Amino acid sequence: MARARWSSRRIFLFAAIGSAVGLGNVWRFPYLTYKFGGGAFLVPYLIALFFLGIPLLILEFSLGQKLQKGAVGAFTTIDSKFRGIGFCAIFSGFIVVIYYAAVMAWSLVFFLNSFTTTLPWSKDAKGFFFNDVLQISDGIGTMGGINWRLFFALLAVWVMIYFSVWKGVKSVGQIVKVTMPLPILLLFIIFLRGITLDGAMLGIYHYLTPDFSALLNTEIWLAAASQIFFTLSLGFGIMIAYASYNEEGQDITGDALITSLANSAISLFAGFVVFSILGYMATATGVGVEDVVASGPGLAFVVFPQALSLMPGAWFFAILFFVTLLSLGIDSAFSLVEAVNTVFADKAKKPMLKQISFCVCSVCFFLGILFTTRAGLYWLDLIDHFITSFGLVLVGIFECLVIGWVYGADRLREYINHVSHRKLGKWWSHAIRWFIPGVLGILVAVQFVTEIKGNYEGYPDWAIGIGWATVILPVMIAVGLALKPKEAKA
Ligand code: PHE
Repeated sequence: MARARWSSRRIFLFAAIGSAVGLGNVWRFPYLTYKFGGGAFLVPYLIALFFLGIPLLILEFSLGQKLQKGAVGAFTTIDSKFRGIGFCAIFSGFIVVIYYAAVMAWSLVFFLNSFTTTLPWSKDAKGFFFNDVLQISDGIGTMGGINWRLFFALLAVWVMIYFSVWKGVKSVGQIVKVTMPLPILLLFIIFLRGITLDGAMLGIYHYLTPDFSALLNTEIWLAAASQIFFTLSLGFGIMIAYASYNEEGQDITGDALITSLANSAISLFAGFVVFSILGYMATATGVGVEDVVASGPGLAFVVFPQALSLMPGAWFFAILFFVTLLSLGIDSAFSLVEAVNTVFADKAKKPMLKQISFCVCSVCFFLGILFTTRAGLYWLDLIDHFITSFGLVLVGIFECLVIGWVYGADRLREYINHVSHRKLGKWWSHAIRWFIPGVLGILVAVQFVTEIKGNYEGYPDWAIGIGWATVILPVMIAVGLALKPKEAKA
């Protein structure tokens, strides 16, 4: 049967940008910039973007587009020994989407609580998030039963995801027309509000004032590299799957440049939004910006809601903000599901997209119930930590090694140059063979040392063991498949 296609190149770009632009752009990038030398952070960030992110994105796009298959199928085509790399990629994606959906469920709960003139968290934002929404238990081992409000919110999120992916690229192509531009527009509206508030400039000053001495710290380089990896949704098989629905002649370097530059521009812009509001909050409450800055869930569900509750028309901006989070999240979430679905659909003999989507979404939902227990936040934190520190980066290394040394970086580069307007020089092949696996290798090694120095966030050994299992199991499967002697074909 003929492979499904995006309705146009523009729609493919919307989908790719929609996947890349997610919570990471809003709750991670601005914080990293602030923490690692303000404007000076842009130096390692841009270097990582051009020497790591873009070359790898080109690799993933070209792999999918040339071989016309999702992650597992593409590596199987190269050599069935390597199909485990595809499994690793979609395994990481599968785990990530399970908790990503849980974060969206929190956003949904906040959204539903925003339709009132006195926001329920206006007195105690922290208490509201931890005690009211999460009803958090005292540790990762105390599950405390299911929190039913989150359970139903999660179910609603999965229904939304299912109806985004159920017809594959056909439905995804429709949905991204809204979910890609909408959060950008909403961020812009929040920006207009933020920038006109007292103290906004103070916040932006903290965000961008460069401290070039920070560049001497190796941590900043590693932070830049891992941020680039996560923000471009690399190492999950997403970009491979998405590009596999392109015609073989589409311009790859052009697509990669547009996707990655748009994504970084939105990150940079999101920092203005976040820091103008943080500056306002610091000024309004009479504390320093350094006392209010936060990242991750602490930013999105404690600090930001609190800041919003202080301003005139609070409920209106709260609604806008949580719709922003939901629309930022959903196209990243369903891109992960689509990467998994593509792998199954590649294998299926007849078109069974709806059934595949239904099964994948249901399994993810059921596994996601773990994150609706009262220990959910701890689990989320633990698993996110291991997958994003190791899982993706290992996939990235494997991808480079197999393409660079087995398939042939120059061979792929020839194809890329054949279809693209902007040609890649020899540097790209060197980057894929040496530079990127080298840098990623250092990243993993440094992270590993940090890890064995002490349990992450002081979690008990058994929990850390489960964290490691999410990394080690898929890698063992990939290595096992690669080493297994091939059965002779009958
Ligand atoms: N790129 C997304 C972000 O920055 C994160 C993500 C990674 C989403 C992988 C899906 C898959 O938030």
